[in-house]
Amino acid sequence: MPKRFFITTPMYYVNDRPHIGHTYTTILVDVLARHHRMLGEDVFFLTGTDEHGQKIERAASDRGITPQQLVDEVAPNFENLWQQMGLTQDYFVRTTHQAHKELVQQRYKELSAKGDIYKAEYEGLYSLSDEAFVTETQVKELQAQGLGHTLTTLKEESYFFRLSAYENWLIQLFDRYPEFVRPEFRLNEVKRFVAPNGERGHLQDLSISRTSITWGIPIPDDEKHVVYVWFDALLSYMSACKEGHWPPQIQVIGKDILRFHAIYWPAFLMSMFREEGDDLNGELPDRIRQQLPQTILTHGWWLMGETKISKSLGNIVRPKELLHFGVDAARFYLIRDMQLGHDRSFTFESFIERLNADLANGLGNLASRSISMLHKYRAGVVPIPNVWDESDNEIKDMISNTATDYLEKMEQNNYSGALESLWATLRALDGYIVKSQPWNLAKDASNSADSAKLDTVLAQLYRALRMTAVLATPVMPQICQLLWESLGLSGKVVDQRFAGLAIESPAPNPVKDALPLFSRIDKDVALSEIEAIQIANTQPDKPRLDVPELRETTDYDTFWKTDLRVGKILEAQRVPKSEKLIKMKVDIGLEIRTVVGGIGTAYEPEQLVGRSVVVVANLAPRKLMGIESHGMLLCASDNNSKPYLIVPSDSALPGFIVK
Ligand code: MSP
Repeated sequence: MPKRFFITTPMYYVNDRPHIGHTYTTILVDVLARHHRMLGEDVFFLTGTDEHGQKIERAASDRGITPQQLVDEVAPNFENLWQQMGLTQDYFVRTTHQAHKELVQQRYKELSAKGDIYKAEYEGLYSLSDEAFVTETQVKELQAQGLGHTLTTLKEESYFFRLSAYENWLIQLFDRYPEFVRPEFRLNEVKRFVAPNGERGHLQDLSISRTSITWGIPIPDDEKHVVYVWFDALLSYMSACKEGHWPPQIQVIGKDILRFHAIYWPAFLMSMFREEGDDLNGELPDRIRQQLPQTILTHGWWLMGETKISKSLGNIVRPKELLHFGVDAARFYLIRDMQLGHDRSFTFESFIERLNADLANGLGNLASRSISMLHKYRAGVVPIPNVWDESDNEIKDMISNTATDYLEKMEQNNYSGALESLWATLRALDGYIVKSQPWNLAKDASNSADSAKLDTVLAQLYRALRMTAVLATPVMPQICQLLWESLGLSGKVVDQRFAGLAIESPAPNPVKDALPLFSRIDKDVALSEIEAIQIANTQPDKPRLDVPELRETTDYDTFWKTDLRVGKILEAQRVPKSEKLIKMKVDIGLEIRTVVGGIGTAYEPEQLVGRSVVVVANLAPRKLMGIESHGMLLCASDNNSKPYLIVPSDSALPGFIVK
């Protein structure tokens, strides 16, 4: 059975529009998911959105809509973006999903039954941006990292999780299993946080309920409390985990959420998995370590110049700008230029320079040169090498070492280093061409020594390119597919396995025409294009749709025949055996109608009850799966993506005519 590999992104807050930070994290996870698929593993890649909490509650009330309406509107910003970028997530979880809410309540009850949750009065400093109480020491720590947040004093009755009871096990986790947090210097930060100067007794219990918020998962049996957003959000990794894939191998996060993932999260899990008789003051049992994430992989931040990106500074890089040169180009730059764990400053200049140097020149040039020489000197047929001089052997060793080195570096989370070493080999191949001068070797076809040497040079170029196509596919799936096809190889390069990478095996087919992999960017032109996008981008991101053509012109009379009314959904339930259909009772002012709508892939029934909708009210009834539907709900859609219900203003009442 293949090894299982479960990898996650953080669950993104929906109150923010996606930017370079979210895009980077998700791309990194996508690269790792693809890489592990090519290692032959059974991958489960989870991402999603974190939708509860005070910020959503406030934003919704500012706009006069319900929090559910708000999150339904904004969660697709993330889901659609990842889809448009061709990312390979296996599941998109939302913390407002029913199954998730049920799991949180169930785990809460279990922890409570174990005595790990108790009720007490709490007064403390509260950080609104973190949605967390913070201690004085934590405030100093955050400020030292440049993460100072607005704080208020809050007093409330709260349920507490006995975090302090897990101090001993946590410290053992960090000491005995240093791979739990990578890179190492981030682990050291966590250790200092839990036990400053190695002293014990600093870890305080954690408030895990709120009474000041209503937009959250109710605490079982005490519904004036809702579950603290972090207890809620962290558990989505579990509620959405595919059967048999627990625990996560890699959870990728940014440095700002390290504390939650490296301290609270394992402590919650330790509490869930500990059994009667386990001694919290004794050794951390292996059995429990095995239920915790293998590695919390922590990256630094993309900065603008030296400063943090922030909405108020208006220096946010949005996906549209980042993807201007193609998805693969953005993927390559983000993975190549970020040294995992550290911060990195982003500039469009360095972005363009990297693409020109490594993709247009480096790989692009080498591929087109090599393929055209294969056509010119060998009619496209890749020769078998027979003679090896010193420089040929040097390159031969370099190619095979590169494959090993690349895979090792990826394994050590040194993604930038892996690409760097692959590109160093590509540069060495440029040097190899210059030194061996194939155009001179080809001059006299009757010179068998020259001809044999030319065979070797051409074969090595081919082998290196074929290896590059396979190794770099997780980072640049589209560009590598083009390279794969140019090399005359059939099938999809994503279906290749690293283990099957037989560098020296003969070419199965002649090469084809070299498809252009990446065109050189004119910096000045590109910078002004980016500026234009930034200006246009002051508008919220709209999903990029394949907008269907307009239908033929109609006249007013025809349009007026359609009677559109405001309706309110009173009841909603799924139609058994149908993924799409939902049966609803809709009040249209004049009467209550049964309407069956094909919106079940986009909405859960409980999200629909209480909503205002627009109903096509004078359609002849028709039967859908045996149920008579009397009307249709208006939705927006591009016919390919999911439906978005049209929502009339809250003050429009059932029966109002829509015109
Ligand atoms: N909702 C929480 C996570 C809950 S996980 C159970 C959250 N969401 S977030 O949307 O604010 O952030 C998600 C991720 O984006 C974090 O890992 C954060 O580090 C990352 N980034 C936000 N800005 C960033 C940069 N400027 N650069 C790189 N990543 C950054 O936190």
